[in-house]
Amino acid sequence: MKIRKAVIPAAGLGTRVLPASKACPKELLPIVDKPAIQYIVEEAAQSGITDILIIISPGKESIKDHFSPTPALEERLRQTGKEAVAQQMADISHLANIEYIYQTEMKGLGHAIWCAKDFVGEEPFAVLYGDDVIISDTVPACKELCDAYEKYGKGVVGIKPVPLEQISRYGSLKVKPLEPNIFSVSDMIEKPAPGKEFSLYSILGRCVLPAKIFDHLENLPAGAGGEIQLTDAMKLLAQAEGMVGVQYQGTRYDMGNKLGILQADIEVGLKHPEIGPELREYIKNLAKNL
Ligand code: UTP
Repeated sequence: MKIRKAVIPAAGLGTRVLPASKACPKELLPIVDKPAIQYIVEEAAQSGITDILIIISPGKESIKDHFSPTPALEERLRQTGKEAVAQQMADISHLANIEYIYQTEMKGLGHAIWCAKDFVGEEPFAVLYGDDVIISDTVPACKELCDAYEKYGKGVVGIKPVPLEQISRYGSLKVKPLEPNIFSVSDMIEKPAPGKEFSLYSILGRCVLPAKIFDHLENLPAGAGGEIQLTDAMKLLAQAEGMVGVQYQGTRYDMGNKLGILQADIEVGLKHPEIGPELREYIKNLAKNL
């Protein structure tokens, strides 16, 4: 079945990037000149998604503003000869049909996805974590996952290997290879204690889920960190009917973490047509004194 709906959870408090996220949602922090969540919505649209639900919380309405039409700004840009920028601004509000819903209590990612139940209905849907930007020069990561869902008919998680010393911050998956970069997933554990990990593969930023995930989310007790964990519901799904893991090609940047934001800025900046060459020279000079 073709995947046409996506959910972007963006209601979290962003405590790891305070004070930057105090008044500005972390999902709006820019990589060079574009907010993180715009990269994510563009990735979804390029993957064939037509309908998106963004989950926000009170105080994060500026996410909504970013995707709203801005006729006065566009008119002003056109009057001053900035036609290309005006067109870019107009395009932002036409990327997809975007709806919003509030998660009023921060009970975790699993609870945020639960809030999307009515929007999703009975269809499979993609989840793009609002602070995980994935940049790909080839196929968008979300498209790789949607293709795997269509091929295997099972829930799909986007995965990458994580260094052993970091796996306890993520989740760990029990995997068996199916084809290059594609695995079957039969079990998983969120934030494993040292020695309890199944493998070094972790879910990073993307999944495609059947509507059945809501049966597993219903009545799910709080897990790691006292939050309703989406991974706990996916674990039940993987144990019941198996899931598929896709090691996607793109590079993932964690915009919920200070170092991730800087890495994204530098790497994307180096490839940016307007500032790339100057930034390269700047970094080379700076590195001489490091
Ligand atoms: P994170 O766990 O990275 O976000 O969730 P957080 O809670 O904002 O992080 P810290 O620890 O306080 O810094 C990944 C994505 O899920 C959303 C976040 O906004 C982020 O985009 N999220 C998280 C929700 O929508 N609701 C929640 O209850 C938790």
